[in-house]
Amino acid sequence: MPVLIRREDSADVPAVRTLTAAAFAKPDAPSGAEPVEVGLLDKLRGCDAWIPELSLVAVDGSGSGSGSGSGSEVVGHVLCTRGHVGTVPAVGLGPLSVHPHHQRRGVGLALVHSALGAADALGEPLVALLGEPAYYRRFGFRTATDLGVVPPEPAWGAYFQIRTLTAYSPELRGGFAYAEPFNNL
Ligand SMILES: CC(C)(COP(=O)(O)OP(=O)(O)OC[C@H]1O[C@@H](n2cnc3c(N)ncnc32)[C@H](O)[C@@H]1OP(=O)(O)O)[C@@H](O)C(=O)NCCC(=O)NCCS
Repeated sequence: MPVLIRREDSADVPAVRTLTAAAFAKPDAPSGAEPVEVGLLDKLRGCDAWIPELSLVAVDGSGSGSGSGSGSEVVGHVLCTRGHVGTVPAVGLGPLSVHPHHQRRGVGLALVHSALGAADALGEPLVALLGEPAYYRRFGFRTATDLGVVPPEPAWGAYFQIRTLTAYSPELRGGFAYAEPFNNL
C-alpha cells in the first residue's frame, strides 16, 4: 500500500487517538486500559507546546490521489512538540505510532524522515527523543550526551538521542526539557 505523509487536520484527531492506542497497546493490560501515550497526546494538543506543522499523519495513498481530507485511512502518526535545551527552543519527537496492521512496511521510516525535514525547514536546531537506538540510528540520531545535551532523566543514557539539523551549533549544550505534559507520565 502506498502511503502519503501530510499534516494532521482536525478531522484526523479521532483516528490518530485510535491508532496511537493500537500501536502502544500492551497485551497484558487490563481490558479498556488506555496507553499513557493517548492521554499524553490529548494534553499536548491542548497546550502551547503544540506545533501544528509537526503533527503529521501517514494515510493510505492508494485511493484518493491527494491523500488529503478525512476520507483517507490514517495508518501512522508522528508528533514533535516544543522543548528546550537550556533556554534555547528545540523540539522533542514523540509519540510515533504505526498501526500494528501496517508495521514493518516503511511507514515509520517515512514519518520520521518527514518530521525531520519539516523541523529542519522550520529552522529548528535539533530533534530529541527517547527511543531504541537500533531503530533511530538510521535517521542520523546520536546519543545526546555525546553532543553535550543531557536527558531529563540521567538513567535514559543512550536511549536519549538527538538529530542535529541545519540550524544546529555545537555550542547548543545543556539539559533538555520536554513540554510540560511529558513530566507527568
Ligand atoms: C516503532 C514503529 C514506529 C516503527 O514503525 P514501522 O513502520 O513498523 O517501521 P519501518 O517499517 O519504517 O521500519 C522497520 C524497521 O525498523 C525496525 N524496528 C522497528 N521497531 C524497532 C525497535 N523497537 N527496535 C529496533 N528496530 C526496530 C524493524 O526491525 C525494521 O528493520 P529492518 O528494516 O532492518 O527489518 C512501530 O513499530 C510502532 O508504532 N511501534 C509501537 C509504538 C512505538 O514503539 N513507537 C516508538 C516509540 S519511541
